[in-house]
Amino acid sequence: MSRKIPGGLFISLEGGEGSGKSTLLEALRAFLEGEGLEVCVSREPGGPPIAEAVRDILLDRAHTAMDPLTELFLYLASRRQNVVEVIRPRLEAGGAVICDRFLDASVAYQGGGRRLGFERVDRLNAEAVEGTRPELTFLIDLDPELGLARGPGDDGDRIEREASDFHHRVREAYREAARREPERFVLLDGTMSREEVAGEALAALRNLLARKA
Ligand SMILES: Nc1ncnc2c1ncn2[C@@H]1O[C@H](COP(=O)(O)OP(=O)(O)OP(=O)(O)O)[C@@H](O)[C@H]1O
Ligand SMILES: [Mg+2]
Repeated sequence: MSRKIPGGLFISLEGGEGSGKSTLLEALRAFLEGEGLEVCVSREPGGPPIAEAVRDILLDRAHTAMDPLTELFLYLASRRQNVVEVIRPRLEAGGAVICDRFLDASVAYQGGGRRLGFERVDRLNAEAVEGTRPELTFLIDLDPELGLARGPGDDGDRIEREASDFHHRVREAYREAARREPERFVLLDGTMSREEVAGEALAALRNLLARKA
């Protein structure tokens, strides 16, 4: 029998390209499984098949003509489907969900990067998730130059291939999102080693679990 948490435990991971989200995700998953929780891992854009199909549209390098608001709506469509089909049922069953990017990615990439503004993104995000929000969000903050150098370089997807100033706006918007909600966010310095990043994140997670026990 797995351990259940009433209402579940919803964690999101945020940060720019190559900041270490997927690496941290594995450490969090291992820890939560060790705590006896059933862990569901998802990602954005994507998750269930419909959302993965939307992901393909979003990241296709051929789609250079995509309008910023079209882009936002597609992210929201992917998020909505993920919430309804995967995230909410898992939480209602008392499990843990770790999402590799969620709400705040739209604030950072479309609100900041595409300059659509926080107010509009917040409003549409709220419509898309209808109250299903992470209670803990790890933001790995890293200079985009360093993050992109860790990643695929010229072979990146449509978003990764954006200009440097786009990625700097994303970073600033993420930091602003964290300042707006300091109780939900844990800001992690992405220049730390993998072990240090995981160590700080797990300390915060242990704290949260202890409060929920
Ligand atoms: N703290 C770290 N220090 C140095 N390298 C790291 C660190 N964390 C992860 N890496 C390495 O950097 C690369 C990118 O890490 P990872 O895939 O976890 O980032 P990501 O944020 O998920 O990237 P993406 O935005 O492409 O999904 C990987 O090769 C990973 O091993
Ligand atoms: Mg990743």
